[in-house]
Amino acid sequence: MLASGNAGKQKEIAAILAGDEILSLAAFPAIVLPEEGDDYEQNACTKARTVALATGLPSLADDSGLEVDALGGRPGVFSARYGGPGLDDRARMERLLEALSDVAEPRVARFVCLAACALPDGRTFTARGLCEGRILRSPRGEGGFGYDPIFAPQSSDRTCAELDPAEKDRISHRGEAFRALARLLPELT
Ligand code: IMP
Repeated sequence: MLASGNAGKQKEIAAILAGDEILSLAAFPAIVLPEEGDDYEQNACTKARTVALATGLPSLADDSGLEVDALGGRPGVFSARYGGPGLDDRARMERLLEALSDVAEPRVARFVCLAACALPDGRTFTARGLCEGRILRSPRGEGGFGYDPIFAPQSSDRTCAELDPAEKDRISHRGEAFRALARLLPELT
């Protein structure tokens, strides 16, 4: 089971774990994911546990965010809520670009992902992934989701929204976290 309502993340996690059968939360409309707090690990574990308990199936979740050095690590765990309610991805990116308008290059940042798997017997396993990079001055590319069009991973002159999905998964925070989680699980289930 995948405990996420974010279509961008769902697609990426399913591709990273290709070969395993993963059910989407859409098959269980009665399950409501809990409100998120201020800690990646706690948020990911709570989402995964909620779904494992409700379905009786091993459940995966992630909590992720974009940490910008010039903003003291913000928006971080609050990335999905940056700028307040009612904004879409594009408006949140614009807010972030405005907040960085006086900051000189390189505007160092990283994506962080905490992946969790909760088993119906109550055990929970976690793994973390990072993708270092920098924030550009304006959005580029049509792929990915969230802040991808303004984030260029280290050693790339393209944004995450300009990479093809398989390329992004190879270097992304989510790819690193879920591959590490998958390595833990065969021995544990
Ligand atoms: P949450 O994990 O549901 O709290 O959401 C994390 C938020 O961080 C997303 O809604 C995006 O705004 C941002 N984010 C996390 N991972 C990525 C990514 O791979 N690309 C772009 N934005 C991301």
